[in-house]
Amino acid sequence: MDFPLFFMDEIGNRLLMAVIAIVHVLINHPLAVGAYPLVTLLEWWGRRNNDAAIDNLAYRVAFVLFVVTTTVGALTGVGIWFSAGLIAPFGIGSLLRVFFWAWFIEWLVFISEVVLIMVYVLTWKRWADGLMKKVHIGVGVLLSALSWATMVIIVAVLGFMMGSGTWTQNQSFLSAVFNPLYLPQLAFRTAFAMVAAGLVVWFLMFFFTKQAPELRRRAVRFVSIWILGWTPLWLGASLWYWNAVPAAMQANVNVGLLTQAFQNWHSDFVVILGVVVAIILVTAVVGALNPRLIPRAVLLVPCVLGLFLLGHFERVREFIRKPHVVADYMYSNGVTMTELPVFQRDGLLTYATYVRHKSVTSANKIEAGEDISMLACSRCHTTTGVNALVDRFEKLYGTEPWDEAALGAFVSSMHMSRTYMPPFPGNTAEAEALVAYLRDLQQKRGSAPGAQTLGIPRAAAVDNNANVNQ
Ligand code: HEC
Repeated sequence: MDFPLFFMDEIGNRLLMAVIAIVHVLINHPLAVGAYPLVTLLEWWGRRNNDAAIDNLAYRVAFVLFVVTTTVGALTGVGIWFSAGLIAPFGIGSLLRVFFWAWFIEWLVFISEVVLIMVYVLTWKRWADGLMKKVHIGVGVLLSALSWATMVIIVAVLGFMMGSGTWTQNQSFLSAVFNPLYLPQLAFRTAFAMVAAGLVVWFLMFFFTKQAPELRRRAVRFVSIWILGWTPLWLGASLWYWNAVPAAMQANVNVGLLTQAFQNWHSDFVVILGVVVAIILVTAVVGALNPRLIPRAVLLVPCVLGLFLLGHFERVREFIRKPHVVADYMYSNGVTMTELPVFQRDGLLTYATYVRHKSVTSANKIEAGEDISMLACSRCHTTTGVNALVDRFEKLYGTEPWDEAALGAFVSSMHMSRTYMPPFPGNTAEAEALVAYLRDLQQKRGSAPGAQTLGIPRAAAVDNNANVNQ
């Protein structure tokens, strides 16, 4: 739980995982799943028309894909395991057990993918003619298929985390895979990856076609048609997917899109998202009809917009499945739904492994409270950094020393008004200890006025409160 990195206090578990996972998706979807087939198609088209310039462009794009996917792509992929293993060992443990064979196959597929991208790029110039060129294109096709296969496997896991379907009743592997969100999400991600790949190739063309306006026009038109070809599935599947999302999660989307502070801008933001999609599609329509009208610099814009869209989609998806890590089974803090009443009755500390105290006493109250906060809140909150508990409570209860009863009441019912938070998974003494710890944090941070500023009468009041902190 204690993350051994100095900045963890500031950025928190939630943001660390989110950054690694989102960077991974931004590489995996457009640059692997989407771009391998697009580049292979471009290579095939170049060969068919005896167009060496197109072939060379495809090669240069493939080289970029090769470098980025085997470095940052692979590192962030492993980074997800690393961060999730540390932050959410119970969650990842459950997913490993349920999806054991799927992960096993996924690792084989992943290793084959790495070998194939190396073969594909390194033999490009050598296998340039005749039969060998056909074999080379075949390698591209196989690479594309394997790269999509990783998506086919992993989307099953992602869908399961949002809706476990009949798995909770029968615990069968197939029920887990064919969860209610699987197919719509797979269709959506596949199409989105293909569109985003087009945007990335446009972006790279800005650099690779500087001296070659004719080549650029041919390639812009080709890629525009590719994007428009995937658009119906992209838009259709996004509706299909949204309708498959359970209502409780749809209700989280206001906060998910923009955080609580800006949730009133929700509808404006939806309009902005629509405009972003429109800009991408208009560029593609113009690019297909008359690529001359597209200045080179314009090729950079849709890529930036598209990556923003994809990254934000990922953020929202991660957000709306709160308070669960696996729907209907486990909360984000690693407590399963069947454990919850037991912990609330006997205490969370009683069953926890890495805590200093197994139960709350007046002597250990603040330390026990810190452990509780680690167990129950730290997956999503820091103490004083990003999404800090102290800030959150100060917004609600002001910067004066907090009233412990009010905080206690909030903690025991927070899941009802803020549906993105899990129920407090401990007993009453633990809730009080948590509150005492939070009060202590507030005072240590100095935002609550100290005794010196307050003068004698208020200091006495603070002392009265302080007796709960002992
Ligand atoms: C599953 C993740 C998660 C867990 C676990 C969690 N929270 Fe939160 N909490 C959030 C999010 C997300 C917000 C809203 C942030 C935003 O968008 O402003 C929030 C907001 C809050 C707020 C402000 C509510 C408001 O209306 O302004 C308080 C107070 C709070 N949390 C306390 C806690 C405490 C105490 C715990 C531990 C017992 C806890 N949370 C556990 C995710 C979580």
